[in-house]
Amino acid sequence: MKKIMLLGSGELGKEFVIAVKRLGQYVIAVDSYNDAPAQQVADEREVINMLDGNELDRIVAKHQPDIIVPEIEAIRTERFYDYEKQGIQVVPSARAANFTMNRKAIRDLAAKELGLKTAKYEYANSLDELIAAVKIIGIPCVVKPLMSSSGKGQSVIKNEEDGSTSLTTSIEKAWKYAQAGKRGDHTEVIVEAFVNFNSEITLLTVTQKNGNTLLCPPIGHRQERGDYQESWQPAEIKPEHLKEARSIANKVTKALTGSGIWGVEFFLADDGVYFSELSPRPHDTGMVTLAGTQNFSEFELHARAVLGLPIPEIILERVGASAVILASNEGSHPIYIGIENAMDNKLSDIRIFGKPTTRPYRRMAVALTYDKTGSDVDAVKQRAIEIAKKVKVESKAF
Ligand SMILES: Nc1ncnc2c1ncn2[C@@H]1O[C@H](COP(=O)(O)OP(=O)(O)O)[C@@H](O)[C@H]1O
Ligand SMILES: [Mg+2]
Repeated sequence: MKKIMLLGSGELGKEFVIAVKRLGQYVIAVDSYNDAPAQQVADEREVINMLDGNELDRIVAKHQPDIIVPEIEAIRTERFYDYEKQGIQVVPSARAANFTMNRKAIRDLAAKELGLKTAKYEYANSLDELIAAVKIIGIPCVVKPLMSSSGKGQSVIKNEEDGSTSLTTSIEKAWKYAQAGKRGDHTEVIVEAFVNFNSEITLLTVTQKNGNTLLCPPIGHRQERGDYQESWQPAEIKPEHLKEARSIANKVTKALTGSGIWGVEFFLADDGVYFSELSPRPHDTGMVTLAGTQNFSEFELHARAVLGLPIPEIILERVGASAVILASNEGSHPIYIGIENAMDNKLSDIRIFGKPTTRPYRRMAVALTYDKTGSDVDAVKQRAIEIAKKVKVESKAF
């Protein structure tokens, strides 16, 4: 039995804990607040600020885990190199966790070192530099803090057709928005050319200790306000695009080293496949695999890869879709109105994460639905949306 320390205890962590508990492992679930979803199913819990290196050191020394599994980005990941030196397995690797928490590291690796196609980009460390960068990249463009997730601090600078706002004002707004949404004290931003994509996909990729990398069938998804709203599997993609995306996923995960599951994000445009970014851990759009779309869910795949257990193959067993169920107000003790109605659907299921508090747009649950392989994926997606719509989250205002 291994002692696993999970850093971040949200809904993805919860499913991971369930997967490793089924394999008889011991888990300490860590988060910044008590009663986070994964803590509710783990053996022990810790509540700390994971951006505080001393706090991390303290709980690592206290519990002496065999394996550290990050579930989020907001962790003092520089400490991971030390933990690896102490003989602790960091998932997928200290290098991967460090690179992916900073958009600059990962983008330069992808575009410059590996020569992958990405949106054209520049960096800016001040408003003046941002004005200059926007000139180089052109409009429309996307401005993102180097350190942020879930679309935080991210905005699009568009053509002001009606002329009501000057471009400088828009750039200033984007700069301020990025500064307000950034994680930590890193002021630098990335400016990316806006990719006019037809669709976006996630390729779940599993790297294994035996060196054999496996790829899941592509997952399609739609984003709103920086978070995914629906995901479906398999996503429609031209064979040559899939080949290209698979090759990129192989290259970039290999360069980052380690074993575990990764969510590699791509834009599919008329002029081909663009690498966007990647998570060195289960991906939220991969919750669709909880609908039994594959012989192993992304969490079961992660569990096996992390523990060095073999994964002989990944098979698409059904088509499926997931749609998120969001809270609408700030409060506590959430209740789920309409859950009976939502569950009264064939080939469907609902997962409630068990988050103790709500805030507007917080993801609280997910609707899952599936059908036989070869069925119309779009119809399955529509059903997921309809099921999710039946559930309303109500909570007591603070
Ligand atoms: N260069 C771009 N062109 C067009 N859309 C983009 C671009 N960058 C980001 N987006 C949109 O914003 C979403 C979130 O951006 P992403 O870089 O993945 O940030 P996060 O780390 O917050 O997920 C993407 O999934 C995509 O829908
Ligand atoms: Mg993303």
